[in-house]
Amino acid sequence: MTGAGPASPPLVLLLSGPNLDLLGDREPSVYGTATLADHVAAAAAEAAQLGLVVEHHQSNHEGELVELVHAARGRAAAIVVNAGALTHYSWSLHDALAAYQGVVVELHLSNPASREPWRHTSVVAPVAAGTVAGFGGLGYRLAMRAVAEILGASGVSEGSP
Ligand code: DQA
Repeated sequence: MTGAGPASPPLVLLLSGPNLDLLGDREPSVYGTATLADHVAAAAAEAAQLGLVVEHHQSNHEGELVELVHAARGRAAAIVVNAGALTHYSWSLHDALAAYQGVVVELHLSNPASREPWRHTSVVAPVAAGTVAGFGGLGYRLAMRAVAEILGASGVSEGSP
């Protein structure tokens, strides 16, 4: 384990995919006016209340997200991932998440199932414990709660995903 002592809270890696850096400005009628920084702050605050710590990364590059998932192996107890459009076609992200031993929660601001047909497929869903979608920014807090419940239920602690 890197950089974590025995009393360290479990680490949750929050991953944001392509175009989520534009939140607040991007299609506000679909995604709202809060920025990604707002959502990360909400997730981190909720996580702290639950005894978790959040590390966030955003990338517009598929390979970088794959490498972030690799780096989480043996280090993070859970990954909460809003993969943006990669959700719908990135088999490399699917495979990286499949090789990750910890808890995976899929997250979306909108509800892809109620949008265009091409958004109805998720290649993340088959390797996730579950999906939080359609609740806007509330989803970031709900995802942290799901992680806390799952980790608590399975007795998983920091660095032992
Ligand atoms: C999204 C939904 C995806 O279909 C879309 O490509 C995004 C954002 C969401 O959070 O609602 O970029 O993941």
